[in-house]
Amino acid sequence: MAVRLAHFSDIHLTARPRGWRPRDAFTKRTTGWANLALGRARHFARADEVAAALRRELAGRGFDSLVFSGDATALGFPAEMTAAAERIGAHDPALPPGLAVPGNHDVYVTSAARARLFEEAFAPWQHGTRTSTEHYPFARKVGHVWLIGLNSSVPNFLLWDASGKVGAAQLARLRDLCAALGPGPRVVVSHYPLLMEGHRPEPRWHRLRDWAAVRDTAAACGASLWLHGHRHRWYWLPAAPNLPFPTICVGSSTQSGRWGYHDYTIDGRHLTAARRVFDGATGAFVDSESFECELK
Ligand SMILES: [Fe+2]
Ligand SMILES: [Fe+2]
Repeated sequence: MAVRLAHFSDIHLTARPRGWRPRDAFTKRTTGWANLALGRARHFARADEVAAALRRELAGRGFDSLVFSGDATALGFPAEMTAAAERIGAHDPALPPGLAVPGNHDVYVTSAARARLFEEAFAPWQHGTRTSTEHYPFARKVGHVWLIGLNSSVPNFLLWDASGKVGAAQLARLRDLCAALGPGPRVVVSHYPLLMEGHRPEPRWHRLRDWAAVRDTAAACGASLWLHGHRHRWYWLPAAPNLPFPTICVGSSTQSGRWGYHDYTIDGRHLTAARRVFDGATGAFVDSESFECELK
């Protein structure tokens, strides 16, 4: 009874018009836009085309569930969010069910988080068991595997701040939720990594600020695996003295040259991962690297 999951992330889709309003002038959106204009947009020039190819993969390769670890948009505008959910197929009944959590770009400014833009646009991928009235965390069973959506993204005020935080209140809810779940591997899905390549913490302004507390709580909750994005280059980490379970970063699924997603087969507690990458010449995804690991 193996389970097949498709994991993708950091699609960073945008829309025109974006829907600028005067009140956006003094927010991070201004610098985010400048950043886009100064080159970031070039990295995502083919994002719509790649997203369309990805959607065909998600629909046609026999997955039991989709896993999206956030950063649907560039600047967290309502128009971008709606377009991103539409283009990737969040409302398409031809796709398998999914589980999605927001990235920092989806809560780029406080108003986007407060209006719950991500949760509205990706509502079909937000179904699950909750043990409180708060939205996160939530859990959904796929075959013998529990997927747990944990929100690690928060709006940041400082222009250079791309850090995240889960917070003590959500960690307490994670403990309650996990205590209520039955047996089976527990796969936590969140935007931020716990550690970067080399098992080192991320740079201060890019990291999950409470990563150590999150790691310890997840371990106490019986986490078997941590799936994430945020870093745009893919890597995976085996369990180590400072990491109680393996973690997998799928990287950006649409950024030029880094574009790819992962096809996981979980058989018991054994995970086989096949990476599929976009071929710019043919416009289709093809097989790339693969790796295997034992879940905790
Ligand atoms: Fe990203
Ligand atoms: Fe991110």
